[in-house]
Amino acid sequence: MTSANPPIQPVKDLGFLGAGRMATALALGWKHAGLVQLGHCQAADPFAGAREAFHQATGFWATEDNRAMLRASRVVVLAIKPQQLHAVIGDLRGDLGSDKLILSIVAGATLPTLCTALGHQRVIRIMPNTPSQVGASASAFSRGPSASAEDAAVVSALFGSVGKVFEVKESLLDAVTGLSGSGPAFVCLVIEALADGGVRAGLPRDVAQTLAAQTVLGTAKMVLETGKHPAQLKDEVASPGGTTIAGLHALEQAGVRGGLMDAVLAAARRAEELGKS
Ligand SMILES: NC(=O)c1ccc[n+]([C@@H]2O[C@H](COP(=O)([O-])OP(=O)(O)OC[C@H]3O[C@@H](n4cnc5c(N)ncnc54)[C@H](OP(=O)(O)O)[C@@H]3O)[C@@H](O)[C@H]2O)c1
Repeated sequence: MTSANPPIQPVKDLGFLGAGRMATALALGWKHAGLVQLGHCQAADPFAGAREAFHQATGFWATEDNRAMLRASRVVVLAIKPQQLHAVIGDLRGDLGSDKLILSIVAGATLPTLCTALGHQRVIRIMPNTPSQVGASASAFSRGPSASAEDAAVVSALFGSVGKVFEVKESLLDAVTGLSGSGPAFVCLVIEALADGGVRAGLPRDVAQTLAAQTVLGTAKMVLETGKHPAQLKDEVASPGGTTIAGLHALEQAGVRGGLMDAVLAAARRAEELGKS
């Protein structure tokens, strides 16, 4: 398991298949990081609303012609929904020369499935997450049979420019999906619940929400920057008979710790199911 951030070289001729939420989040993050530049990035999507939203948000071109995008791109990000995968990539087989590097962010879609459906082996499977759009993503990837070390370096540069990136064994990618892929939704639920608690205690909604989000951001930075175990940082806040231990006791009684573990496992299992369907 390695975490690598090689020097930044702009990636030329990058295309997205699907111009939805994740394509937009990644395009925005890479544009801000200077990794992808105007004239060297486009998306393809049959849905006019998605094309317009992608273009408005990123400034990059969006077409309804998948093949035109494919012909113009050397690096192609598959950013369609798992349920759409087989219908969409089947008709791309003929246009995939060995010069094309395929990056799939499709949850659950395994490398063997992708390589067989595409008739192409130069594929890398990645699980990023939506904080890509603010440069704070958590991603992990695995290489397909013909993806080289240079291809892995391109992926590390792209996903390292918008956050942290690890190369892992493919068998671990469903677990990554359950933790960091779906994690932003779980953390948003925690932020919303903390804010509701603040409002219940008398705080104005906007103040409560900002305090809750900043507390999550600050705590995450402490864990990443100090390297201390979260349990130690937790104990550093909880003084004997104090306010925090009273709150922690309520969380333990509510089974929050077990609930969060179950959420990651349920999401990981669903990724596995999607991969099999
Ligand atoms: N969102 C996340 O947090 C996240 C995180 C990690 C990985 N992912 C993965 O990223 C992928 C995209 O997720 P998303 O949230 O960005 O979904 P999304 O917003 O629905 O984007 C998918 C886009 O693909 C379009 N599409 C449908 N058929 C197509 C075709 N034939 N050719 C080209 N585009 C087509 C969809 O149009 P319609 O809406 O009209 O169908 C939609 O605009 C998924 O596989 C997901 O597992 C998502």
